[in-house]
Amino acid sequence: MKIGIFDSGIGGLSVLHEAYHMLNDTEYIFYADTDHVPYGTKTPDEIRTYSEEIVKFLISKGCQAIIIACNTATSVSAKKLRELHHDIPIIGMEPAVKPAIEENDERRILVMATPVTLREAKLKNLIARVDEKHKVDLLPMPGLVSLAENEDFSPDKVLPYLTQQFEGFSSRDYSALVLGCTHFNYFKAEYRNFFNDSTSLIDGNKGTLRHVADLLSIELNKDEDKELIFKDINEMLDMTHTSYYFSGRPAQESELGHIFRLHKRLEEVRKI
Ligand code: DGL
Repeated sequence: MKIGIFDSGIGGLSVLHEAYHMLNDTEYIFYADTDHVPYGTKTPDEIRTYSEEIVKFLISKGCQAIIIACNTATSVSAKKLRELHHDIPIIGMEPAVKPAIEENDERRILVMATPVTLREAKLKNLIARVDEKHKVDLLPMPGLVSLAENEDFSPDKVLPYLTQQFEGFSSRDYSALVLGCTHFNYFKAEYRNFFNDSTSLIDGNKGTLRHVADLLSIELNKDEDKELIFKDINEMLDMTHTSYYFSGRPAQESELGHIFRLHKRLEEVRKI
């Protein structure tokens, strides 16, 4: 089974990385639309146009299913993409509000996402359906997208931004942070400077991939937590059966280096 996974940029690698852990016998094409990142501040029409091009491209490369590894693109384009391609499963992502509410104690839930995801009807409808006790608060975090894209994980860049965004929010009031953008997974360690272990960090990756496995009858790996470290770029390419594209162009050597380093970081933050 060959699956196409796309995102505006490298946020979707967090989904691909988790897929390496969880799914057996799968090949991937990963597509980062780095010419157009960030999507989170674009218009819905722009995002729909980019997503339609990407899906056509992935199908032309033989993908038998598509994962939209982007909450923003899912919220504005999943419906249209499914109308255009009835014959191929297209799986979207949405902020994991439901699991956060199910796990929740008496404290509140903070859903972080891009401005587009927070504005769109898809998330509003989800919250209206599942947030019976009105416990969900919303927080836009567009700055984390460019930090992740630039591999800018240094504390002096990330912490001032988070200090400003998290002002007034703490573990005393919040039982969960929902990471409603795939780029936000890279910063799990940094959130811990502001929220202690009594606040869970909840992303939608595992839930989405369980759904993918079920829908496509892919066997789940019984040893999904086995450490996944690649010695070098060649080993990464050999072991993962993945072709990488950046806005339609095959990844160059330097871009593969970027991907290699990001997989390493994702493996580190996976345990947090
Ligand atoms: N990674 C994307 C998401 O999950 C969007 C980031 C962006 O391009 O703004 O929403």
